[in-house]
Amino acid sequence: MPALARAAMPVLLLACCLSCSSGGAVASGAPDGAPGVGDRLLPEAGNGGYDVSHYGLDLSYDPVGGRLSGTAVVSATATQSVSRFDLDLSGLTVGAVTVDGRPAKFRRFGTELTVQPARQLTRGDRFQATVTYAGVPQLLTDADGSHEGWFRTDDGALALGEPVGSMAWFPGNDHPSDKAAYDITVSVPAGLSVVSNGELAGTTTAGGRTAFHWRVTAPMATYLATVGIGHYDVTRGRTRSGVPLYEAVDPRSDDPRTAAAVKRLPEILDWESTLFGPYPFASSGVVVDHLPRGLGGYALETQNRPSFPGDSGPPAVQLDTLVHELSHQWFGDWVTPASWQDIWLNEGFATYAEWLWTQHEGGTSVDRSAADAFAAEATWAFPPAAPPSAAELFAAPVYSRGALVLYELRRAMGDRAFSTLLRTWPAAHAGGTADTADFTAFAQRLTTHDLTPLLRTWLYGKAKPAHL
Ligand code: TRP
Ligand code: ZN
Repeated sequence: MPALARAAMPVLLLACCLSCSSGGAVASGAPDGAPGVGDRLLPEAGNGGYDVSHYGLDLSYDPVGGRLSGTAVVSATATQSVSRFDLDLSGLTVGAVTVDGRPAKFRRFGTELTVQPARQLTRGDRFQATVTYAGVPQLLTDADGSHEGWFRTDDGALALGEPVGSMAWFPGNDHPSDKAAYDITVSVPAGLSVVSNGELAGTTTAGGRTAFHWRVTAPMATYLATVGIGHYDVTRGRTRSGVPLYEAVDPRSDDPRTAAAVKRLPEILDWESTLFGPYPFASSGVVVDHLPRGLGGYALETQNRPSFPGDSGPPAVQLDTLVHELSHQWFGDWVTPASWQDIWLNEGFATYAEWLWTQHEGGTSVDRSAADAFAAEATWAFPPAAPPSAAELFAAPVYSRGALVLYELRRAMGDRAFSTLLRTWPAAHAGGTADTADFTAFAQRLTTHDLTPLLRTWLYGKAKPAHL
């Protein structure tokens, strides 16, 4: 799918260049694909030189040893001529790589898996890279101290990948600018279940193992890919408007508040559809799991089936968090930030959705929520559209000041134009990506009021404005 126009990124030549061992036969040709897309906050995330259209993951998991093994078939188009390109992969052991069926040379360096196809790729070439790999996937610790990647649970595992955790379980172009379709098949010992994104295309049981095949046809960013392995109580249903539901809940999540929150999912989705436009995906649901104590703590808007990994006492699903993660289906999953500094486009909208819901339920008014956010000191640590580092990607300004941007926009544009904005912004980038400049230009087209000063102050200003 269309990738971000790649910022001119210096091609940091990998320390161990493959040509050393290749006899130099192809080394004189095209340059290397860059080891990152040039994201200001996560420079190594993603890669240059190609654009992925599909991931075919065919994996097998052993919950006792924690070992994952299988193949990833990455179907992509070369966006430039390259003699080598990178995939992102953290840990695990690569056994073999082929490109279009022919053995390819490969090297590991940090989280880069560099692949040198037998034949160099020419701009526009479609190709398939097949990576055979195995190992015990690791949990990654991010700059802010939080965990992502592959969480082992006592009955299986849960994969969560924001911002760069998908590389803990499959090789790919791990950046939101490159969305793709997926087929995710995971085989587990019979009796266990696998839940993932998209729709369940089928299960096959043979030799004491069951393979679950999940198909994701809507474009999906790597950070939104998930797989849950373990014992789940599965509930299937439909919302009133007909969206199929697949809810997988760890049987130990028996707190009545969790059940009560999940029961309201159809109502929340329908309510959000009236505000944000038609629900964009073919199905919905949840994954509710139990992580070892102290590891999780945050829910994630995994595409079309958000994850709620309780890691301590109940309840695992809180109503306002469910509203938040479901709103991300429009803001984040359907229209995806083009780079990580645009993350306020996810979290600002999701926080604003929580404010709207609370008011809708007869609780705190949106005005009161905005006033509280304005009064909180943490809101002002940095401007929401310019997080200073990866450690601040999920800090308070991104959420609460991001929501205040929307609050101020509503006051400046008026209710009518603002509700049009909420309803049409996701559709304007249906299944794609957008950055902050796309958003401000879009908002400006909906009003004659000059939004420049407002946006400069609230999105980029360092100082706290004098008043709301
Ligand atoms: N994006 C998630 C949400 O708000 C939260 C999240 C992901 C997060 N990674 C994090 C929160 C790291 C804190 C730290 O729905
Ligand atoms: Zn969020």
